[in-house]
Amino acid sequence: MGQPSLAKIAYQTLQQGKGLVGIAHKEISTKLMEFLVPEAIPITSPVTIDLLVELRKAAKELEEVDWAEAEKGIYPRNILFDAPWFEWFFKYPLVWLDMPSTWNRRKKSIFQEIPKEINKEKYPKYYLQNFHHQTDGYLSDHSAEIYDIQVEILFNGTADAMRRRVIAPLKKGLNENFNGVNPSSLKVLDVATGTGRTLKQIRSALPSIELTGLDLSAAYLKQASKYLNNSGDEMVQLIKANAERIELIDNSFNGITCVFLFHELPDYARQNVINECYRLLKPKGIIVIADSIQINDSPQFIQVMENFYKIFHEPYYKDYIKDDINKRLSDAGFESISANSFFMTRVWSARKPG
Ligand SMILES: C[S@@+](CC[C@H](N)C(=O)[O-])C[C@H]1O[C@@H](n2cnc3c(N)ncnc32)[C@H](O)[C@@H]1O
Repeated sequence: MGQPSLAKIAYQTLQQGKGLVGIAHKEISTKLMEFLVPEAIPITSPVTIDLLVELRKAAKELEEVDWAEAEKGIYPRNILFDAPWFEWFFKYPLVWLDMPSTWNRRKKSIFQEIPKEINKEKYPKYYLQNFHHQTDGYLSDHSAEIYDIQVEILFNGTADAMRRRVIAPLKKGLNENFNGVNPSSLKVLDVATGTGRTLKQIRSALPSIELTGLDLSAAYLKQASKYLNNSGDEMVQLIKANAERIELIDNSFNGITCVFLFHELPDYARQNVINECYRLLKPKGIIVIADSIQINDSPQFIQVMENFYKIFHEPYYKDYIKDDINKRLSDAGFESISANSFFMTRVWSARKPG
């Protein structure tokens, strides 16, 4: 094996640095919580050294795949380094300032503290919650502003590498099924786009295609718009809608992606979203879903999965990790279903029959 290039060393160093920041942040905040609000500390299963070694190995494999796919030209190498670093640096103190209210909700088991001005009738009941104890749930600018930093910390800097796993199956599916179609006529929708990080990376990999992002949170879409539509790149359309019922016509898209949504949905809503994606895809259209690993594909990480819903308010996660997504895709009518796991993420891809 040859020596790694300088660029690869830079990427590995960046990932290592993000990992260390994530670990240090969690260590310090847990110690503070133990000291200030010990009642808020959840009871979790101990993580053994063997498990930590397995986790480290899986994270390293993810890093290798991420690098290899950039080297193959599936996406440009520069997106491995892309993030609004300057903005995150200045927003980071907000994460700390937000912590006491998070601890308070943990301590008092308050899970539905949503801003008063929100018209609750406009949202499904399952959505009106403080997922992962998030202040305001998904329903404020404050929540949207600190979300990306919180996710980076949670996954020790691997969140974007996990999101990028949708790009290769999406590109492959579009190439195989819409070969000869002018790329500028191809349309891709990112369902539950949040602050738009997946879309930003898809746009780098597929710069000519028409992209749309959809989410139920106006605040997160505002953040996505700031993040996506302030450069010279192609504009991305953003739509506020419930992914279970999208007011767009049948057969509108060649590809649909959906990242980190399913574990936050009750089972019937997962099926509704898959059915809706099926309806919106053109014949031969591709769906790519990325979400948490599950017990069946990653039994070695069951403790990590169990700790996740014990530590964070994730009311549907326990059900999600046992759910059969392949069956849901097949029930909706999809074919050529395949799935792979990368570190903490499972990626499914499937095709609407042509
Ligand atoms: C965990 S975040 C994932 C966001 C983004 N895909 C990412 O990779 O960071 C879940 C997102 O799903 C959105 N969401 C949840 N339920 C939804 C629904 N029924 N319809 C549309 N969006 C929904 C939330 O507003 C939030 O932005």
